[in-house]
Amino acid sequence: MFSRRTDWPLEPNALTREIESRRARGLPVIDLTESNPTHCGFSYDSAAILRALSKPAALEYAPDPRGPREARRAVAAYYEERGVRVDPDQIFLTASTSEAYSCLFRLLADPGDAVLAPQPSYPLFDFLAGLNDLEVIPYPLTYESEWRIDLDGLAARLERANHALGVPGAIIVVHPNNPTGSFVKLEESAALVELSRRRELAIIADEVFSDYALDGQSRLTHAARDAVLTFTLSGLSKISALPQMKLAWIVVNGPEQARRNAVERLEIIADTYLSVSIPVASAAAELLETRRGMQPQLIARLRQNLAELDRRLEEPGAGAVRLRVEGGWYAILKLDAGTSHTDDELATALAREDGVLVHPGHFYGFPDEGHLVLSLLPAPGLFAEGIRKLIARL
Ligand SMILES: Cc1ncc(COP(=O)(O)O)c(C=O)c1O
Repeated sequence: MFSRRTDWPLEPNALTREIESRRARGLPVIDLTESNPTHCGFSYDSAAILRALSKPAALEYAPDPRGPREARRAVAAYYEERGVRVDPDQIFLTASTSEAYSCLFRLLADPGDAVLAPQPSYPLFDFLAGLNDLEVIPYPLTYESEWRIDLDGLAARLERANHALGVPGAIIVVHPNNPTGSFVKLEESAALVELSRRRELAIIADEVFSDYALDGQSRLTHAARDAVLTFTLSGLSKISALPQMKLAWIVVNGPEQARRNAVERLEIIADTYLSVSIPVASAAAELLETRRGMQPQLIARLRQNLAELDRRLEEPGAGAVRLRVEGGWYAILKLDAGTSHTDDELATALAREDGVLVHPGHFYGFPDEGHLVLSLLPAPGLFAEGIRKLIARL
């Protein structure tokens, strides 16, 4: 009765079972994977948010496949502040970046084709690709004092893809990547553009975390790139820490003809769903504006938790080091060599014995053992307590 694409293993894994069992017994859980900012004790300008959502414009429906123009102007103004001129006609609003991915996969690939995605990275790619009948071809990121795209590894995967796997239609870059916190370097970007040109691939650049550079420096945005067909994704979920508003976007860039062709087709895809809510789109300018109050709070939190983590890891015999983070909301612990447990065993024991939830690296596609992924968003007291227990267990 059901499609093969929904043949997921539905049994909860051991880690989920431990956490559910603790919660069922009323025992506390320190969730070091929490990345929902509305649950992390930040101070939102609630009055401004609620005011923005109750405008008379919310009462009228004038559908536009790209989303209301006023909202697209607000998005263009966001890029303008980063020094990039974007025409509102290059922008498509969507309900989420997940939806944006789906629209682009529909635009760029046929069933059985593939998309290239970094590894380790955002676990949802497998689902998003699978739901659109595409394969993910992972390309490696490697770590040696910092994360880098393994360009030779990428070329090798592409070569193999030609023979054995689906034809790649796009290459995804995540800037900065979740969970490695690494931005795409300028020379990597140049190599990817060259590769995309040669192989007729589009670039999908996920920049949802790009405002969260820990060194405070702003990085290049792909929304300024015209060398190859490029789709830049972002949204309110991270920019203004408002995931519940469900407003994201695609900026389309590229050589003029390719861009025009893409926009015409995307317009029909978007027109099929018209999924953007008018009350939220009418509030876009004000909701984007709230980032000025939110981002400093989040960046301060990321730095504070990172400093606490580092302080704890300096203790003798801590059992792990932290990998370099340039931006985003996550940190990765690399466990000392010789740890006799798998990441799964460790995370499950930590959940069962200490009530602390962390993610084992394989959730994000780490190919080898010895990695735990933590969110840096939890409230500092909770984070410190969780880290204390984690290090005691290591
Ligand atoms: C890399 C990346 N892209 C996109 C998203 C989700 O964004 P949205 O809420 O707009 O779907 C996330 C959420 O964690 C993410 O990590």
